[in-house]
Amino acid sequence: MSGVPEAISPTSRGEQVPLPSGAAVATSAPAPSARTPRILQRMLALDDFEPQAARILPRPIFGYASGGSETNASLRANREAFDDWSFVPRVMVDVSVRSQQRTLFGRTYDAPFGFAPMGGTSLGGFDGDRVLARVAAVSNIPMILSGASLTRLEDVKAVGPTAWFQGYIPGEEGAIRRLVERVGAAGYDTLVVTADVPVAANRENNVRNGYSAPLRPTLRLAWQGITHPRWLFGTALRTLYVHGMPHSENMGSTRVPLVSRVAVRERAQRDRFSWRHLALIRSLWPGRLVVKGLLCAEDARIAAGHGVDGVIVSNHGGRQLDGAVAPLRVLPEIAAAAGSMTVMMDSGVRRGTDVLKALALGAQFVFVGRPFLFANAVAGEAGVRHAVKLLREEIDRDLALVGVDSVDGVSTALLRPRPR
Ligand SMILES: Cc1cc2nc3c(=O)[nH]c(=O)nc-3n(C[C@H](O)[C@H](O)[C@H](O)COP(=O)(O)O)c2cc1C
Repeated sequence: MSGVPEAISPTSRGEQVPLPSGAAVATSAPAPSARTPRILQRMLALDDFEPQAARILPRPIFGYASGGSETNASLRANREAFDDWSFVPRVMVDVSVRSQQRTLFGRTYDAPFGFAPMGGTSLGGFDGDRVLARVAAVSNIPMILSGASLTRLEDVKAVGPTAWFQGYIPGEEGAIRRLVERVGAAGYDTLVVTADVPVAANRENNVRNGYSAPLRPTLRLAWQGITHPRWLFGTALRTLYVHGMPHSENMGSTRVPLVSRVAVRERAQRDRFSWRHLALIRSLWPGRLVVKGLLCAEDARIAAGHGVDGVIVSNHGGRQLDGAVAPLRVLPEIAAAAGSMTVMMDSGVRRGTDVLKALALGAQFVFVGRPFLFANAVAGEAGVRHAVKLLREEIDRDLALVGVDSVDGVSTALLRPRPR
């Protein structure tokens, strides 16, 4: 059914016209309700959250979340790739009842997008991992908990039944066995293995902005806290008061504190991780197995040969290899090589039209990262719900405008490459 819940349509003159029941609504912008926090009334699209979050978050944290690696070439390319396609809409099609539901691994979700895994989610806003898990559950969309998160994977699953778990998997058999067992015991049915992080990326912006993992207690960091009081009281001190010092909870055998003068984050021989280890995971993990971070069709073929259930075509939001191709550009060839695997993508998805383009080019589902972290920084749970609503409304409106009544009707026939 149409994803737009309101039964009132604002006209171009701002009047409210009651609609016949069951009619779909394509408003030009979401109508703010009386309960919408004031700041959210100005958030009209996912991109609106980022400049607002830049004011709220200390520089090291905002830079860590917003940035890419080295020259940001892949970060830019991710957005540009969407602009290379234009729609050829169909007209006079009855689109009065629209559906954006998507069935993935046997479960029907209410939208064709979910939350990508992000390590700094609970640094951006109080209890970020649990907030995203809760909003995902009430919105009936998937949320992928990051292996680099600061919340125990068991605690997130307890509040987020639609959560999947993403592992940063060490190239070491004993550690793999322990992690797979723990994830299964917590009740997760989908395990995402991130494959594009053999070594840490060269994120110069982190060095310039004073971000590190763990954070080093410096005068500069203290000054950033003092000059961002909303974050200091609303996120940092509240977290310390409610949960104590956060630790990386789901990576390796040692819990590394968020702030430390000396601690070092364990990378656990990730550069040894290879298909051999994936085969071991497949033999141990009875649930759905997804590989995230593929960009090459041949790798998709190898994944299929290893019994993988799905791939997320991704360049990590432009945060790993600078110059790595934008996922949208390789989607068609990966979809063609994927066999029976489910093909998903992320990196740069910001608009309903982006979602439709990705679906048309071979994705069955997309994930979105940064905007939801920023939405939580701006207005907590209400912010994340608002962001979900914005994207759902865009998809709903765009389906009508391209002339199809469901995401199942989206195909390459709707697209033309933009002339260069
Ligand atoms: C702050 C931040 C932290 C991230 N942490 C992880 C992570 O722990 N594991 C992972 O697989 N991907 C991680 N990613 C990458 C995202 O899962 C996703 O691929 C990317 O954000 C999608 O691009 P978008 O932000 O343009 O939507 C992170 C991204 C951001 C922005």
